[in-house]
Amino acid sequence: MKKLNPEFEEIDRKREDQNVFWSSLDAKEDENHILYGNSASFFSSVSSERSEELLNIMKKNGLLRDDKILELGSNCGRNINYIKSQGFPNVLGLEINQEAIDHGVEEYELLSEENFIQGSVESAIGNVGQIDWLFTMAVMIHLTEEQKISIYEWAKKNVSKGIVFVESFSKNTMHHYGLKGHWFSHLSKKEIPKIGKKTRYRKFKSIGYTACIITM
Ligand SMILES: C[S@@+](CC[C@H](N)C(=O)[O-])C[C@H]1O[C@@H](n2cnc3c(N)ncnc32)[C@H](O)[C@@H]1O
Repeated sequence: MKKLNPEFEEIDRKREDQNVFWSSLDAKEDENHILYGNSASFFSSVSSERSEELLNIMKKNGLLRDDKILELGSNCGRNINYIKSQGFPNVLGLEINQEAIDHGVEEYELLSEENFIQGSVESAIGNVGQIDWLFTMAVMIHLTEEQKISIYEWAKKNVSKGIVFVESFSKNTMHHYGLKGHWFSHLSKKEIPKIGKKTRYRKFKSIGYTACIITM
């Protein structure tokens, strides 16, 4: 398969490994003895600053009250809960980890099972149907090339208004986490295909990442 990101060598990154890792909430230790895990209690404890910054980007780009909004890799749904609380009721989170979804349904009064689809992006995205907005936050950096391609291809056909990828585009990401690219990498601007009419990048301050904003 053609390399999406010429800057990144996919040493040992297989979809099956990735999906097993993210499906569990247990912390794992990498070869550098760094513990990393998929913790719903951590993701629900993150401040709402990130969700607010994201929502402002969508509002500036024409988000309307009844627009249908999908987050890929929503974990417990902290972002979609915030967006719903601000008067945008049609939110959906697609998440591989059922325990993270259960955590969100319990934690957030505004969210129920109906706000989530459980599954891995590449297999479950086909069940979503047409949406107006798609966003990710710190998710694309964990996926394989094959998984990212399935998102780009799907988005071209199914997203009507805009996409916001809040991700790291910095080559330092994997060094920063010391994980040798196994669970973390970075995106390359070169890998983002032409999906909509306009693609722009701006700093996403609350995480120190970049927002790639695509308008259709
Ligand atoms: C770093 S967390 C970010 C969570 C959330 N977006 C946030 O900002 O709090 C990455 C999330 O992506 C989910 N994920 C990873 N691979 C996935 C896949 N193939 N399909 C669906 N979700 C996935 C993980 O389970 C995890 O909840």
